[in-house]
Amino acid sequence: MVDGNDAGLETHQPADERLSPPESFIEQANVTDESVYEEFEKNWPEAWDRAAELLDWDEDYERVLDDEGDTSRWFTGGSLNACTNCVDRHLPEQKNQRALVWEGQLGERRSYTYLELYREVNEFAAALRSIGVGEGDIVTLYMPMIPELPIAMLACARIGAPHSVVFAGFSADALAMRMDSADSEYLVTCDGYYRRGDAVTLKNKADTASASVDPDVTSVVVDRLDGYECTLGEDEYDYGSLLDAHESERVTPVERDATDDLFRIYTSGTTGTPKGVTHTTGGYLSYVAWTSHAVLDIKPEDTYWCSADIGWITGHSYIVYGPLALGTTTVLYEGAPDHPEKNRLWEIIERQAVDVFYTAPTAIRAFMKWGEEYPQQHDLSSLRLLGTVGEPINPRAWKWYYKHIGNENCPIVDTWWQTETGGVLITTLPAVTDMKPGSAGPPLPGISARIVDGKGNEVPPGDGGYLIIDQQWPGMPRELCEGRAWAADAGDGAPQLEDTEWSYPTEDGALADEDDYITILGRVDDVINVSGHRFGTMEIESAIVSVDGIAEAAVVTGTHDIQGKAIHAYVSTEDDAGDTDALRQAVIDAVEDAIGPIARPESVVFSPDLPKTQSGKIMRRLLEDIANGEELGDLSALRNPEVVGEIESAVRSD
Ligand code: WTA
Repeated sequence: MVDGNDAGLETHQPADERLSPPESFIEQANVTDESVYEEFEKNWPEAWDRAAELLDWDEDYERVLDDEGDTSRWFTGGSLNACTNCVDRHLPEQKNQRALVWEGQLGERRSYTYLELYREVNEFAAALRSIGVGEGDIVTLYMPMIPELPIAMLACARIGAPHSVVFAGFSADALAMRMDSADSEYLVTCDGYYRRGDAVTLKNKADTASASVDPDVTSVVVDRLDGYECTLGEDEYDYGSLLDAHESERVTPVERDATDDLFRIYTSGTTGTPKGVTHTTGGYLSYVAWTSHAVLDIKPEDTYWCSADIGWITGHSYIVYGPLALGTTTVLYEGAPDHPEKNRLWEIIERQAVDVFYTAPTAIRAFMKWGEEYPQQHDLSSLRLLGTVGEPINPRAWKWYYKHIGNENCPIVDTWWQTETGGVLITTLPAVTDMKPGSAGPPLPGISARIVDGKGNEVPPGDGGYLIIDQQWPGMPRELCEGRAWAADAGDGAPQLEDTEWSYPTEDGALADEDDYITILGRVDDVINVSGHRFGTMEIESAIVSVDGIAEAAVVTGTHDIQGKAIHAYVSTEDDAGDTDALRQAVIDAVEDAIGPIARPESVVFSPDLPKTQSGKIMRRLLEDIANGEELGDLSALRNPEVVGEIESAVRSD
């Protein structure tokens, strides 16, 4: 069983405090009636009509949920097109409203009205077809935060080609692995992008990846770096020239079954290779539209900003699909929060008059550290609602966000969800449920969650345990629709659950209070969360042991003021491994090559051996205590207690 202390997250205990949503917010909110919880409970699964009704369907569905045997299908018999729902259907009323607003790294600004978005998406959809992309082909999108990324996603959706977006900070190896796994022969990328004003090339990484992928890859390259010479080879097309060649073309949206794939996304799991998660057209789109409406309170007339990167699920669901399905204006920001100055985000919120802002605790902790003088320089009174996602937020950071960004006038939704869940499952309904700083809140209407011990028995309020979701929801991924085995790649840490009841083990530890408010304690498997980004310890460890001279590696996390967690690598070397400085660099390079600089370990500690139990398992918990500078306690379970001293002195001399 896990408890707060075990998960190392005791500082995230919720404050014993409730805050009600401000009247001004309630008066205008999308969902204000408390009875929505009961309505979903009484009328489940049919109540999910409410989500599906937010979309336009080509063919109405026959059943909300078809769950026979081990298979669940949402909105069966129904068909729709995601691009039509995010673009075309807004034209009659909103063609001149801004759909996308882009704030570039160099201070550039660009926006697309719904009509402009419609035109470019159609032209690019025609272009994709012309280079051979057909319905069902997976198109990999390896691009930074530029408007061409959502445009490419929507163009893929229009022709029924699932996309697989790979975060631009990932390495060539990570890209190749994802392309191979998805059997993707098409790639849309760009020459490069800017980071803190400097040009970073991307095409070279895309080329390295393409060269190692079988069969041949056809690529489209967007020119982002003005003037950067990028020579295109065979099977490589320039984005701008393709648009010109297909100017004014229109592509009839492909009617997709509700259960057809909309996209694939890779995330870290407990094995050494990334876990592919596939989201469906009808279930996923209904779910993200519903949660954007009910939780983020998005309205068509809003300017809405989620500061995540589209390379992660948060960007898919709550920059692109949810907000655009509701016909709002969604802001796309390329760049860092402190470049050129630490007031950059607040300056954008003021200038764009952002209504709803959604970010991650790691960013909030950085804002706190920089100080309230930066937000104070700006008029943030356009804000109505704030959100956080990605990691537990401690009450102190929550209150800072509430006070200094929301002026104690905006509810905060602390939204718990995962790549696998497609959209938010646990949080408060901002006009209906009180907030408790540090606790995500109760499960949303129609969502059922329990906290159980290792045997699958529910634990009493206040006790830590495993968080499981014990009822299906429309945003569940295709892999889970087709059987539960996929979810249980968790190994040792998973609770034993009855086979007869449907459940999804989330691999998070959590506790619930008397009011069923859930506080997330963190992952209980070998997935680690750094700055709100997911990595598998196995992925990082396998990169490290690929270095010549390295015998064994264990990766753990230590607490970090800003990132929440930082990665620490403990490494044992072969006898004749040589110079540790060179090896340390080789270890860091190997991680950057396999995954990317975002997974770079904060420290690499060398020792002749790693601490092991009598049965030979590496004692990670002990390494974590060392990383956190904590008391080590009883070492009697160790087979080789002598290495502990050596590791501690290696840490000190670092
Ligand atoms: C963590 C991101 C606490 C959790 C959408 C989960 C959170 C993992 C919260 C999924 C939250 C996400 N409070 N922890 N509000 N939201 N998490 O797949 O450990 O990148 O399992 O999806 O992030 O990360 P993923």
